[in-house]
Amino acid sequence: MTNVSILVVGSGGREHALAWALARSPRVGQIYVAPGNAGTAEVAGNVPIGSEDIPALLTFAREKAIGLTVVGPEAPLAAGIVDAFQAAGLPIFGPGRAAAQVEASKAFAKAFMRRQGIPTAAYATFSDYAEARDYLGNQSLPNGVVVKASGLAAGKGVIICDDLAEAEAALQQIMVTREFGPAGDEVVIEERLSGPELSLLAFSDGRRVVPMLPARDHKRIYDGDQGPNTGGMGAYAPPPDVDQAVVDDIVATVLQPAITGLAEQGTPYVGVLYAGLMLTADGPKVLEFNCRFGDPETQAILPMLESDLAEIMLACLDGQLRPDLVRCRPGACATVVLAAPGYPGHYPKGLPISGVAEAAQLEHITVFHAGAAWDDGQLITSGGRVLAVSAWGEELPAAAARAYAAVAHIHFEGAHYRRDIAGSWR
Ligand code: AMP
Ligand code: GLY
Repeated sequence: MTNVSILVVGSGGREHALAWALARSPRVGQIYVAPGNAGTAEVAGNVPIGSEDIPALLTFAREKAIGLTVVGPEAPLAAGIVDAFQAAGLPIFGPGRAAAQVEASKAFAKAFMRRQGIPTAAYATFSDYAEARDYLGNQSLPNGVVVKASGLAAGKGVIICDDLAEAEAALQQIMVTREFGPAGDEVVIEERLSGPELSLLAFSDGRRVVPMLPARDHKRIYDGDQGPNTGGMGAYAPPPDVDQAVVDDIVATVLQPAITGLAEQGTPYVGVLYAGLMLTADGPKVLEFNCRFGDPETQAILPMLESDLAEIMLACLDGQLRPDLVRCRPGACATVVLAAPGYPGHYPKGLPISGVAEAAQLEHITVFHAGAAWDDGQLITSGGRVLAVSAWGEELPAAAARAYAAVAHIHFEGAHYRRDIAGSWR
C-alpha cells in the first residue's frame, strides 16, 4: 500500500516526532495531526480537533479515508478510541480500551503482573482509606514505601515516601483530599525499589513483540535529579550501561509474557507497549506500563530508527510484525527539553521564541516542538515543555554536546533546561 493518509492524534513533542518519522516513509501520503502544534504544521496538516474528541476524530478519519491513525496520548486510548475506530472499520494503531488498562489502572496492571509472573515491586491495593492506613501501620518500611493513585494522573499520582508519616500523608492526599480526583478511588501501596531506571518500548502485533532501542528519561526538573517531577526534561537512547542481554531479558520476562497474557485473556494488545523499569540488584522489575509511546523518549528513539515507521505500524495491524522491520542506526541520540519558566508549576504563555531555525540547521539536529505555536509569523511558547532538541552522535557524549550546542542558539525569556541530560549513566 502506498500513499496511505495518516492521522496522528495529540499535540506534544512526541506527536511531532511521530509525524516527522512517518513523513519519511515512501508509503505515506498526506499526514494530519489533531490538534498538533507549530512543529507538526511543518510536516503535516494540523486539524483543530481535540485529542479526546473521539466522535469528531472518527468523522474526520472517515471523510479523509485515513489509512492509519496513530494515537499519541493515553487518555483517548483509555477512553476507547481504538474500539470506536475498529467498529467503524478504520485502521488505527494502539490498544483497545480493555488492553489500555495496563496503564489506566495501576491496580489492574499489578494484578495482571502477579498472574503472569512478571517481576514487579511487592504491593497491596485498597479502595478503603481506613484499611490502607491500617496496612501501612503494620509495615516496618526500612526502605520507605511508594503510594500510587491507581488511575490516570498525568504522571503525578506517584508519591515516594521515606517513612510512615510521609506515607500516611500521601494516602490522605490521594484518598481523603482527593488531589487526583477519581484516579485516587483506589491506591496501590508498593515496595520501594532502587536502581537505575530504563524505558523499554516495544511494538506488538497482538502476539509478537519487537523492542525499540532502550531509552532513559529525566523526570525531575533540576540537574542531579532534584526538585519536582515533570513530564520529562530530556531523554537518551540507548543508555551505555544497558546491553543487549538486559534488553533480551526484559523482552523474555516482561514484554512477551505481557503480550501473551493479554492475548490469552481475550484483549490482544496491538500498538506500543512501554515498560518503565528499575534495574534492581535482583534483575529488572516493572514500575509501570504505559499503553503508548513515551514523551520525551520518542524524540530520542525515532531519530535512531532507520526503517520505515509506517511499515512497522501497518505490519502490527496485519498481525505480521517481524524483528527485521525494526532497524536502528548505530550511535546514540540525546534529547534536551526546553521548558517555560515556572514549569512544572504555573508558567506564562506567549513568550516569543528565537533561534529555532538556526539550531535546526546544525548537522544531526532535529528540533521537535511541544508547547510552541505560531502567532502572526512569530513562534511563541504555548505550553510548559516548549521544545525538545534531539541530536545524534557516534557516541552518547558527542550527541549530548551537539544537542547543547544547538540549544545555545534558542532563546525565550526564562527558558529552563537541564544541563546534565545523558550524563546520569556515568
Ligand atoms: P510510575 O508513574 O509508576 O512509573 O512512577 C513514576 C516514578 O516514580 C518512576 O519513574 C520512579 O522514579 C518512581 N517509582 C515508581 N514506583 C517505584 C517503586 N516501587 N520504587 C521506587 N521508585 C518508584
Ligand atoms: N516519559 C514518561 C512517559 O512518557 O510516561
